[in-house]
Amino acid sequence: MFRINDNFCKLAESYLFSEIARRINAYKAAHPDADIIRMGIGDVTRPLCAAAVEAMHKAVDDEADASTFHGYGPEQGYPFLRDAIAEHDYRARGIEIAPDEIFVSDGAKSDTGNIGDILAQGNRVAVTDPVYPVYVDTNVMGGRAGALGADGCWDNIIYLPVTAQNGFVPALPAEVPDVIYLCYPNNPTGTTLNREQLKNWVDYALEHGSLILFDSAYEAFIRDEDVPHSIYEIEGAEKVAIEFRSFSKTAGFTGVRCAYAVVPKALFGTDSEGNKVSMNHLWLRRQCTKFNGASYISQRAAAAVYTPEGLAQTRETIDYYLRNAETLRKGLEEAGLEVYGGVNAPYVWIKTPAGIDSWKFFDLLLDKCHVAGTPGAGFGPSGEGYVRLTAFNTYENTVEAVKRIRAMQF
Ligand code: MLT
Repeated sequence: MFRINDNFCKLAESYLFSEIARRINAYKAAHPDADIIRMGIGDVTRPLCAAAVEAMHKAVDDEADASTFHGYGPEQGYPFLRDAIAEHDYRARGIEIAPDEIFVSDGAKSDTGNIGDILAQGNRVAVTDPVYPVYVDTNVMGGRAGALGADGCWDNIIYLPVTAQNGFVPALPAEVPDVIYLCYPNNPTGTTLNREQLKNWVDYALEHGSLILFDSAYEAFIRDEDVPHSIYEIEGAEKVAIEFRSFSKTAGFTGVRCAYAVVPKALFGTDSEGNKVSMNHLWLRRQCTKFNGASYISQRAAAAVYTPEGLAQTRETIDYYLRNAETLRKGLEEAGLEVYGGVNAPYVWIKTPAGIDSWKFFDLLLDKCHVAGTPGAGFGPSGEGYVRLTAFNTYENTVEAVKRIRAMQF
């Protein structure tokens, strides 16, 4: 008789954003006239930029002609895209990343979830708390999380609280983790680490032999000089870190799907016999076996993001969302709420008023304001007492959401 992976039975009934969608749909079914403003999942609303659209049309034409047709592409991604990434995202910032250290994929969610395939089950994992739930759930699936305690923490995961009390800067752990997930600009708090703060983590990993999984899916929102876009801006990071990037939030590819991971050739793990093993080689082996590459059409669209037109158009869209973030932040602060994040990031992290718990405040916002957010507790125990709103809706809806929340008596 076949057996299932028991670890899946330890997970909550559904993934956070599926649960949020279920609740919103149930509310909508019960209140069909409610004009709900969705600020829950970080899905974009602006269309693809013209440069990407044009490139996709052309790529479809390529696929329609035998002389330009592309079937399976290289599992690591087409050279035209990897070269553009190496040039624009790295060399332009003074970082040398070779195209064969770049692995194009269908999303940072997949990459941050799949990376566990090449890590031993016995690794001790650390996450910031609150955290993007994919990091925790995939480690539960992989058998690295242990058991869920009454405090909402998995007993084999090291939680690094990021709250208003520590200025949303995680403290270096006393108990040394083997693997550390960092996401900056941060999802869900919308806060950032400056160069010195990130350097502390790289130095810690170098000293202790830990691996940093650095998710920089939101780097395009950075406007401050002192906030690093890439962990490889920090000396020595290529020996300890894998970086994940995505075109989803940068260029509106949540529906198109294209992202990439950087696995430097200077990064080595250790096998059970103490031998050094190239992480770049392991990830290539994994991807070639389990993945057939992002589509040619998506990759052509992604490459167009790096043309002068594409860069200007995507910057304009990011500026639009940053204006939404500022509108949320300022408007809600003026309403007397304690608001964090939303600078160099598309997420605004709001302290719930009068000690109302996160899920209750989520329900209140939905019911009284018809604004759908995400309860902070869904991101981890230290998210209790907060709610997250995204800046990805339209400007008009953002202004309207602020107006509705301000009209609410807490
Ligand atoms: C979020 O809302 O946290 C993100 O959109 C989720 C994701 O990118 O998968």
